Amino acid sequence: MTESPVTPAQPAGPAAPAAVIVLAAGAGTRMKSKTPKILHPIGGASMIGHALAAAAGLNPRELVAVVRHQRDLVADHILSLSERLGTTPVIADQDEVPGTGRAVQCGLEALSHPAAPDAGPAAAAAPSGTVVVTYGDVPLLTTDLLTELVQTHEAGSNAVTVLTALLEDPTGYGRILRDTDGSVAGIVEHKDATDAQKQVNEVNSGIYAFDGAVLSTALAQVTTDNAQGEMYLTDVLQIARAAGGRVAAVTTTDQWQVEGANDRVQLQALGAEMNRRTLQRHMRAGTSIQDPATTWIDSTVTLEPDTTILPNTHLQGSTHISEDAVIGPDTTLVDTRVGIGATVTRTQASGAVIGDRAGVGPFTYLRPGTVLGEQGKIGAFYETKNVQIGRGSKLSHLGYAGDAEIGEYTNIGCGNITANYDGVAKHRTVIGSHVRTSSNTVFIAPVSVGDGAYTGAGAVVRKDVPAGALALTVAPQRNAEGWVEERRPGSPAAEAAAQARLSNTPQPDAGA
Ligand code: UD1
Ligand code: CA
Repeated sequence: MTESPVTPAQPAGPAAPAAVIVLAAGAGTRMKSKTPKILHPIGGASMIGHALAAAAGLNPRELVAVVRHQRDLVADHILSLSERLGTTPVIADQDEVPGTGRAVQCGLEALSHPAAPDAGPAAAAAPSGTVVVTYGDVPLLTTDLLTELVQTHEAGSNAVTVLTALLEDPTGYGRILRDTDGSVAGIVEHKDATDAQKQVNEVNSGIYAFDGAVLSTALAQVTTDNAQGEMYLTDVLQIARAAGGRVAAVTTTDQWQVEGANDRVQLQALGAEMNRRTLQRHMRAGTSIQDPATTWIDSTVTLEPDTTILPNTHLQGSTHISEDAVIGPDTTLVDTRVGIGATVTRTQASGAVIGDRAGVGPFTYLRPGTVLGEQGKIGAFYETKNVQIGRGSKLSHLGYAGDAEIGEYTNIGCGNITANYDGVAKHRTVIGSHVRTSSNTVFIAPVSVGDGAYTGAGAVVRKDVPAGALALTVAPQRNAEGWVEERRPGSPAAEAAAQARLSNTPQPDAGA
């Protein structure tokens, strides 16, 4: 079925690492934002939400997030994702020692699982088994690629397996150093690299699988003796190799999956690519998308096969589109459920439920709590809020329905309004089934209308209407004969009236 970034995938085969540590302590200053970088939204979830979902898909014994910058805001957000992740992440606080190595060390210290018995005193915090390290700002990374990394790591009984990519422009990245036999010798940071090393275009993604005990022991030997004065996690590779461990690499050809967003230009590019991948997934699963360039679908949205999405449509949040529904053009649906075979045209909806074979639009605004029954209709220039509309009922043109309940097969006339607010409190309007209301009826809530009742045009319904009654509130009409010719002499209207009086054209009877 459809995968979502905040719903973990099924437990990933044999790979179930001891821990995944997601690094999220950095400041992300290049976003130029008061919001922490990893909380910025992309494709319907925060960056860290996507990163944690990919990590949780590995079904690790513990999922750890290392935080520091805007600690409380970030930690609260991460914990708020627990339900959707299917696990409560452990929050680890990084101290003032900078660097990815220190971040991972702080992550290991936060683990509750007992250390391997043979790990030694330096490795007090080492879990037995595989520890995966990844970043909070790499939103396109998938559980599938992490699974491949872990499987390669475990199949080779490696000490470290690093995920790498070949980049045309490797500037800024740590470079992968290989021996003449091709084996991975280590990683050198861009700022520490020689000119020859800077020519290497195989880069460190920052994503790794480690043997837990090796990681813990090696980190105890990492110093801050480098160009940036940081504890580099990358030093673990050389240390592990010197201790006789196997260090290997998995090289991905899908660079997007290891790409981080450091500024808003990169965030936009990653967002567009995520959307492109989401749309392709839905098209392959049976959704027709006429214009991918103007269609934006959050990765949290679900669509059934044989759905059609017309141009300039945005589907967001927990929106679900059922079979044979046609959405758009020019439609934004947020947290909205659309039933089988429904059509939704030029509509803005949030928190609404649209029944099977119902029709909505064009130019319609559905606010939260709108429930439209099967084969119902909410037509042009309508606004609705907190209204339950029964099967086959129609609100076709120009009106407002809020805090109301409408039965089945009722027809609400043009321009009807539920006056739900008396300036202090909201009140409900209850309208029965098979009701026919005439144009411009106003319901002064609280009020109710019985089954099969009618209203006259312009009725202002302040009192309950019994079943089967016709509610009339208009004053009798009076015609002032000859008024136009007397009071608007010489006007086109007066001339037309004079013509009509002189000709034999039948006119409404004065007494009618
Ligand atoms: C790091 C790698 C580099 C790799 C690159 C890939 C090291 C020493 N270098 O470099 O080889 O090519 O990532 O993007 O690991 N973080 C913390 N605490 C810290 C520092 C960083 O949690 O003290 C987190 C950041 O929030 C971020 C990640 O670690 O999610 C990477 O940090 P960043 O400063 O971007 O690392 P780079 O210097 O780019
Ligand atoms: Ca970076």
